[in-house]
Amino acid sequence: MGMFDGLTALVTGATGGFGRRTAERLAAAGARLVLSDIDRESLEAVAAGLGTETATLAGDIADEALSERLVALAVKRFGRLDIAINNAGVAQSFVKLAQVPSDEARRIIDIDLMGVFFAMKHQIPAMEKQSRASGKGGAIVNVASVAGTGGAARLSVYAAAKHGVIGLTRSAALEYAGRGIRVNAVCPSYARTAMVGDFVKLAGTNEVEALAELTRGVPMKRVAEIDEVVEVILFAASPKNSFMTGHALAVDGGIAAL
Ligand SMILES: NC(=O)c1ccc[n+]([C@@H]2O[C@H](COP(=O)([O-])OP(=O)(O)OC[C@H]3O[C@@H](n4cnc5c(N)ncnc54)[C@H](O)[C@@H]3O)[C@@H](O)[C@H]2O)c1
Repeated sequence: MGMFDGLTALVTGATGGFGRRTAERLAAAGARLVLSDIDRESLEAVAAGLGTETATLAGDIADEALSERLVALAVKRFGRLDIAINNAGVAQSFVKLAQVPSDEARRIIDIDLMGVFFAMKHQIPAMEKQSRASGKGGAIVNVASVAGTGGAARLSVYAAAKHGVIGLTRSAALEYAGRGIRVNAVCPSYARTAMVGDFVKLAGTNEVEALAELTRGVPMKRVAEIDEVVEVILFAASPKNSFMTGHALAVDGGIAAL
């Protein structure tokens, strides 16, 4: 028996680094999956390789209607929504605050913060309803960042959005603690995904210099591997982890201990 046997899990950003690996691990552990990302073709390709029952819906996570439709899809296809991994997100240009174009700042907030708000706004009522009906609510895991727990030079708007994600996480955890819904956030430092590639490009320096800058403040002196972060996402989502809610779990090579 897998740890997620028979459970329905929703993963956003499902074709990206953390999202795809999370979907693979959930599928291998017995979950049925509802997957979303912006590009339909790559989403279908990921879903086809998972070897479990899947439902997919492509769209922009900044559009509230997508979150509403994703929850409806989970309920229609699988009868319930047990786990939601709100993972879709984008990086910002690696520049100081005064150089961040205002339309880019708004877009970062729309995707990285409002996207998580819309997701939870529609996931929570479905989980509450099933908690009332069957005593089993659900678990939400929001992928924030270490940039959500402290200032992040040249990532000000991204950091603001991720601080907001942690605020939403803690507040929702309190509001729904008595309703069978756990809400936690996972806060990675830099990990080896396309997003780090984007930071390197946006930094306008070469890869070696950019990676050296990214890992300078990390006690372990390296970026994380995707699996090291996904392990913690699964831990937060696990039904066995039934008394933990409202946490922002750092997966950061020691930064939080500094
Ligand atoms: N990689 C890191 O170093 C790092 C560190 C801390 C936090 N994070 C967070 O982890 C999460 C996953 O990022 P990743 O590192 O796997 O990067 P990634 O770029 O590989 O994956 C992000 C996914 O989100 C999707 N996405 C982006 N904008 C979207 C939108 N508007 N609508 C729908 N989908 C959209 C992308 O298509 C992509 O598949 C993000 O929330 C990111 O902020 C990443």
